[in-house]
Amino acid sequence: MNYILSLLIIGFIHLVHSKIDKDLQTFFKKNKCDQKCTFESGNLTFGTIDLFPSSCETVCADLQLDQRSNLTENELTSVFKNMKHLIGRLKVLNTNYTSGKFLSGLESIECDGNGMLEWGENFKLLEIGLINLTSIICYRVDIWQNFNLTRLNMPNLKILFYPWSKYSLPVKESYIALTFLSTDFCITTNEMATTINVTDYISYKYCEPVLDDKLCKEPVKGCIEIFGDLEITDDTDLEIMKTIEIIYGSLIINGTDIKDFGFLESLKYVASLEKNMEAIIVENNPKLNNITFPRLKVPRPEKLFKIVLCFQKIRSTMKSSIRFTNNNEIISLDPSLCINLRKSMKLDDEYIKINDDNCSEFEETL
Ligand SMILES: *[C@@H]1O[C@H](CO)[C@@H](O)[C@H](O)[C@H]1NC(C)=O
Ligand SMILES: *[C@@H]1O[C@H](CO)[C@@H](O)[C@H](O)[C@H]1NC(C)=O
Ligand SMILES: *[C@@H]1O[C@H](CO)[C@@H](O)[C@H](O)[C@H]1NC(C)=O
Ligand SMILES: *[C@@H]1O[C@H](CO)[C@@H](O)[C@H](O)[C@H]1NC(C)=O
Ligand SMILES: *[C@@H]1O[C@H](CO)[C@@H](O)[C@H](O)[C@H]1NC(C)=O
Ligand SMILES: *[C@@H]1O[C@H](CO)[C@@H](O)[C@H](O)[C@H]1NC(C)=O
Ligand SMILES: *[C@@H]1O[C@H](CO)[C@@H](O)[C@H](O)[C@H]1NC(C)=O
Ligand SMILES: *[C@@H]1O[C@H](CO)[C@@H](O)[C@H](O)[C@H]1NC(C)=O
Ligand SMILES: *[C@@H]1O[C@H](CO)[C@@H](O)[C@H](O)[C@H]1NC(C)=O
Repeated sequence: MNYILSLLIIGFIHLVHSKIDKDLQTFFKKNKCDQKCTFESGNLTFGTIDLFPSSCETVCADLQLDQRSNLTENELTSVFKNMKHLIGRLKVLNTNYTSGKFLSGLESIECDGNGMLEWGENFKLLEIGLINLTSIICYRVDIWQNFNLTRLNMPNLKILFYPWSKYSLPVKESYIALTFLSTDFCITTNEMATTINVTDYISYKYCEPVLDDKLCKEPVKGCIEIFGDLEITDDTDLEIMKTIEIIYGSLIINGTDIKDFGFLESLKYVASLEKNMEAIIVENNPKLNNITFPRLKVPRPEKLFKIVLCFQKIRSTMKSSIRFTNNNEIISLDPSLCINLRKSMKLDDEYIKINDDNCSEFEETL
């Protein structure tokens, strides 16, 4: 009797919750989701856990864990133990879990065009802990109000983006937002490198990295990434700079005789997390007559600088990401220099300041 009753109840819950939205249904079809491996209910609770296709490696679901779930971390670890790929969406909201390690077998998440990866209001969460996750193909990743979260702990994450063209959908702004976490929260250089092409709202510090031959604090021959600000002065050996691709900090070029930025031939990204400081400062270089960077541009370079701008929006009165002050006067006299720089990086006026002017501004005053 009880058994039948609970079957009825499960059936009822199943019916009530079995309304995967149209977009997602289409997405499941496109991804050839196996009916047997589709979790229709989406809401994983005490009442639906038996319906979860826990033997499948690839699961299709609009998966949500929340205050109604009433499932222990052990129960979740067991139900997710075979799931390596999730097609659909994932939300973990309002739970008391301390870690997301119950999903540590997960290797990829692929969302539909409305689907995001979201962890919010999990007040006891200390880490996300998706340690085997290598790829998140979701248009948004939103990690918010997990007040005790100190680490993502996603050491293997390599891919984070959304290929709008693949699904011929109207492009929405993709981003990763990490907001209202523990004040001790930090992001690793690897995690930053993965998110570098995507707009981000991250106003936390970098975790102290493990340095090696490639990642250096003090630039020496062979460094590819620099942790901290890189200051180039008259004493700097420019040869060493030729291999540097990423600076996790600001770039300061101050008081040199350089004529152009040719020596930064490999530099692709500057990702500063510092408050009250531009990502790039070029000051007191009287011979500088070409301000275009050789490689500091990606197909969506404005995203790169939004990393910095975001901070400045939140925490500083400054708006620009690149500042030129007191250099060769030709830089303010010849607007084409500024305009070429702006064009080469597809930046807006607000990102570049030359002696406090923006490109358009001093184009007009001439
Ligand atoms: C999960 O529950 C919420 C709230 O009751 C509901 O809006 C949503 O449609 C459910 N998800 C699925 C996939 O049924
Ligand atoms: C989480 O813990 C709080 C207090 O310990 C409790 O009131 C709340 O019901 C718990 N939430 C869930 C989803 O278990
Ligand atoms: C949560 O699940 C346990 C069994 O695991 C059950 O005893 C308890 O009543 C449930 N609580 C709620 C609020 O559903
Ligand atoms: C994570 O990946 C490693 C290496 O492939 C594997 O040994 C381990 O079992 C995986 N973890 C889980 C929870 O599946
Ligand atoms: C989580 O953070 C809140 C606010 O910062 C704090 O009051 C609470 O004690 C913390 N909870 C745990 C389990 O650490
Ligand atoms: C950023 O985009 C460029 C160009 O599309 C690509 O080559 C590079 O691999 C991307 N980097 C990351 C970390 O996704
Ligand atoms: C550049 O060097 C000058 C003279 O040493 C110094 O006053 C100034 O603060 C430096 N600027 C930056 C941004 O470090
Ligand atoms: C300015 O510098 C860039 C990058 O080093 C270079 O590609 C470009 O040819 C230079 N322009 C002129 C006019 O020399
Ligand atoms: C650029 O300068 C023009 C002219 O002074 C001004 O109207 C405009 O607001 C400035 N744009 C930015 C983004 O600062």
